[in-house]
Amino acid sequence: MLQAAVAERLEDMKDSFGYPQSVLVLGGSSDIAGATLIELVKQRCRTVVLAGRNRDAMGSLATELHSFGATVVDLVDFDAVDVKTHEQIISNIFTKYKNIDLVLIAFGILGNQNEGEEDPLKAVCVAETNFTGAVSTCLWTVKYFKHQGYGTLVVLSSLAAERVRKNNFIYGATKAGLDGFAQGLGDSLVGSGIKVMIVRPGFVLTKMTKGTKSAPMPVTPDVVARSIVKGLELGKEIVWIPPFMRIVMSLVRHLPRPIFRQIKI
Ligand SMILES: NC(=O)c1ccc[n+]([C@@H]2O[C@H](COP(=O)([O-])OP(=O)(O)OC[C@H]3O[C@@H](n4cnc5c(N)ncnc54)[C@H](OP(=O)(O)O)[C@@H]3O)[C@@H](O)[C@H]2O)c1
Repeated sequence: MLQAAVAERLEDMKDSFGYPQSVLVLGGSSDIAGATLIELVKQRCRTVVLAGRNRDAMGSLATELHSFGATVVDLVDFDAVDVKTHEQIISNIFTKYKNIDLVLIAFGILGNQNEGEEDPLKAVCVAETNFTGAVSTCLWTVKYFKHQGYGTLVVLSSLAAERVRKNNFIYGATKAGLDGFAQGLGDSLVGSGIKVMIVRPGFVLTKMTKGTKSAPMPVTPDVVARSIVKGLELGKEIVWIPPFMRIVMSLVRHLPRPIFRQIKI
């Protein structure tokens, strides 16, 4: 009861419209994260921490965010697969900034399905990045959210998580695992003041998908960004991009396996 009241009061750390004022991105050079941060900074987010491997890309994004009005943009070295370092990195950030309203889990790799089947170590790298790295960072984040009494965790899952396809089952399975993990985590936190929002985009035109065959109806990172911000405003638990894919995927999910197997998607 008391915990819920404190959590509610601390929710006021966000501005009066409910937009986060401080954001940490794990995977700070992601194109989707960059577009999302621009939207959030336009909505008065002022403190941004970009944690990732690519300092040049994060530096360019930092310049852009300053031009949109961010007052602090910090760059932190972070590698999703180096799980032993995650506690220290996340602890340092929460200690330095006192309150982080929102953490976005944006790192991920697509990998190459054929190469992964040929060389299982490559498939393991996809799993370690997309799943193990996310399990580690989500759980450490939630620990620090619990210390501050509130927070929103946004997890970039994928439509690929909804039903794993034979053509990209390595990536799809890592996203299915991540999505299930994030759902359970969110359910376990109901009433704690900590929220988990899962984002399931379809094909997004970013550096991750550059050079791959486009799926039908690709979207730009801006579209994903606006959907994320709208999802936050509405307090959504799951955001489908585009929204009608929720219905399409619920049909796909229930297709009998022998039929699903024949579909070339
Ligand atoms: N694009 C799509 O169609 C699509 C669809 C659904 C979901 N998603 C998901 O959305 C998220 C963002 O992807 P995106 O489309 O924005 O692609 P992106 O621009 O390629 O972003 C992915 C980011 O992950 C980072 N990363 C990869 N391995 C890492 C590691 N070991 N440690 C730290 N950072 C690492 C990359 O950093 P480096 O610069 O250091 O490589 C890159 O900045 C991913 O989880 C992806 O699976 C994407």
